[in-house]
Amino acid sequence: MKILFLDQSGKPGGAELCLIDIAKPYGDRALVGLFTDGPFKKLLQQHQIPVEVLATKPISVRKQSNLLQAATSLGQLTPLLAKVVQTAKKYDVIYANTQKALVIGALASFIAHRPLVYHLHDILSPEHFSQTNLRVAVTLANGFASLVIANSQASQTAFVAAGGRPELTEIVYNGFAPENYQPAESEVKKLQQQLELEGKFVVGHFSRLAPWKGQHILIEALTQCPPEVTVILVGDALFGEQDYVQKLHQQVATMGLEHRVKFLGFRTDIPQLMTACDLVAHTSTSPEPFGRVIVEAMLCGTPVVAAKAGGAMELVEHGSNGFLVTPGEPQELVQIIHTCLQETEITATIAKNAQAIARQRFDVTAINQQIASLLTQRWG
Ligand code: UDP
Ligand code: GLC
Repeated sequence: MKILFLDQSGKPGGAELCLIDIAKPYGDRALVGLFTDGPFKKLLQQHQIPVEVLATKPISVRKQSNLLQAATSLGQLTPLLAKVVQTAKKYDVIYANTQKALVIGALASFIAHRPLVYHLHDILSPEHFSQTNLRVAVTLANGFASLVIANSQASQTAFVAAGGRPELTEIVYNGFAPENYQPAESEVKKLQQQLELEGKFVVGHFSRLAPWKGQHILIEALTQCPPEVTVILVGDALFGEQDYVQKLHQQVATMGLEHRVKFLGFRTDIPQLMTACDLVAHTSTSPEPFGRVIVEAMLCGTPVVAAKAGGAMELVEHGSNGFLVTPGEPQELVQIIHTCLQETEITATIAKNAQAIARQRFDVTAINQQIASLLTQRWG
């Protein structure tokens, strides 16, 4: 089966990193068509995944755009659509990995007579999207997709609550290669030295800098933690959230935490950094659709605390393979940090348990087989 994957992003967010793992086994039988040039294209090339930028200009629909803006941007889409239709004729299936990819993919599937798969990485709720974008996504998925792969039960439920047809949906979690999360001890030590983390209790936050990812909650919690607790913020503003970045720096300065918070920017050595942490904190203030970073921390054997909402609740069982806290409540986070500082044995057992479960539950080979059989059942 030949698959044309479509993704709007030039930057590697979680949905894009997930796509790398899905597209890889198809080799030359797949093409990833991007709507924007950028570092994601380079990453695909490094993985030997065929990739082409199909758009001549970046398209500009925003998460919160209204109907008029959406209609205007549709005009800009014509050349891209023509290119996608022409390309799709050489493939058996169109696989849309993002919402703008769904818009183009739906139209192309109709014109080129190719079936459409929509990989839903988002919680389609008003908390995350404008009414217009929600309506467009659900209408197009209902009308054109033959299969909607939801990245969690939470994403599937939100899709159905927004009017999505339940019979289209299947839930498939993100897959991970466990061996990628076992860095050499020497690499981790080197990193700890470079970043001056030795002797500290390091809480890591791994996420793009965006208000709903809640880095500010962790910084607020830090003010109530003992002085040996240090925070590393790993990630950059991928989608233009510069105001939030400024606010975070201001918050750190106002609270006098400059020596206890390190902004590391976007990194490619996530397993090494996570292993160097004593705790990984996930602090999203809106429900997380899946939460790759939670599973990655587990695979590294690092204890993880996550915000109790959305997909995170499917990944973490409080006190068994991690900790859950109420979203937006720094106080609860402080409590968990204290627990991890004091109850080191229990915490280590929880992390070991999490690692063993995550290796089984999110094994990339099994997950890829799951996707392959969903596709072959329909079009094999
Ligand atoms: N990530 C990364 N470098 C960074 C920060 C994050 O490679 O500096 C990766 C992280 O390891 C994870 C992904 O970006 O695999 C983020 O995915 P997640 O599902 O947690 O959140 P998203 O950003 O997709 O909402
Ligand atoms: C999206 C979601 C994130 C999820 C990722 C991969 O970017 O925000 O929660 O883990 O897709 O499915």
